[in-house]
Amino acid sequence: MKDTGRRRWPRRGWALITGASSGIGLELARVMAADGWSLVVTARNETRLNELASELAEVHGASVEVIPADLSDPRGPSRLVSEVEARRLIVDVLVNNAGLGSYGPLLTSDLATELCSIDVNVRALTELSKWLLPGMVERGRGRILNVASTAAFQPGPGMAVYFATKAYVLHFSEALAHELKGTGVTVTALCPGVTASGFQERAHMENVRMVKGRKLPSSAEVARYGYQAMMRGTTVAIHGLVSRILAFSVRLTPRPLATAISSRIMAEG
Ligand SMILES: NC(=O)c1ccc[n+]([C@@H]2O[C@H](COP(=O)([O-])OP(=O)(O)OC[C@H]3O[C@@H](n4cnc5c(N)ncnc54)[C@H](OP(=O)(O)O)[C@@H]3O)[C@@H](O)[C@H]2O)c1
Repeated sequence: MKDTGRRRWPRRGWALITGASSGIGLELARVMAADGWSLVVTARNETRLNELASELAEVHGASVEVIPADLSDPRGPSRLVSEVEARRLIVDVLVNNAGLGSYGPLLTSDLATELCSIDVNVRALTELSKWLLPGMVERGRGRILNVASTAAFQPGPGMAVYFATKAYVLHFSEALAHELKGTGVTVTALCPGVTASGFQERAHMENVRMVKGRKLPSSAEVARYGYQAMMRGTTVAIHGLVSRILAFSVRLTPRPLATAISSRIMAEG
């Protein structure tokens, strides 16, 4: 893109969406483009991002900037932000959606994949928030949508690292939302239950009881719900009535029992 030396202010503002190449992130991009946002979309799969950019430009007339990035790379988040700045885009909305998990006990799981999930789910999310928040607070407006999970509410034997990363996302979001009160910047933790996307296949959890044979809510449905919650400024948005009841009941359940129940649900069968 030609650098005119001037900052670009689109009608609705720019939203940066991580993990926009598939699943919930891709659907969030569709929902937000339809609602007038200009988008910076990022993930590793540049081909899919370019296809998405063409679709959103054609269907919604949206401005879409594609910036591929590997967020498991310690330099990934800062490079992404540098590129956003080089293109002189003012990001009013940050959607930290990129994430991954790995099914199986820690004893036998692949360490590189576990560490990658911590880097993407926790490190990159924290770093992107840290980089983009000062501008939002200075302008007195901004929104952060962090995609957590119902996994955030209890320990998850069989997927210990993933559940712990999502507990981090939930607690981080709640604390940050509190810190930012009165600044014009809101933080929302979206907590979907199991959702139809590429996630289960990537995590090798197709045979897990809570997934197998169940009709799962679509990524599009979850994205619409998350977007509306973010626009309302809701701090914790749990998708689905059953998930909301379970999240609440976990609070009243002794931790060892909650962990044992979670272990049963996470078993294959
Ligand atoms: N599906 C569920 O059941 C479910 C439930 C609760 C919460 N969630 C959360 O929802 C979010 C979206 O997941 P999804 O269900 O939509 O799964 P998905 O279809 O697998 O999408 C994951 C996205 O994250 C990106 N990503 C993965 N590793 C990356 C890396 N190293 N660098 C940059 N981007 C990376 C992927 O893009 P590339 O591969 O192109 O890099 C992809 O766009 C995740 O945070 C997940 O934990 C999912």
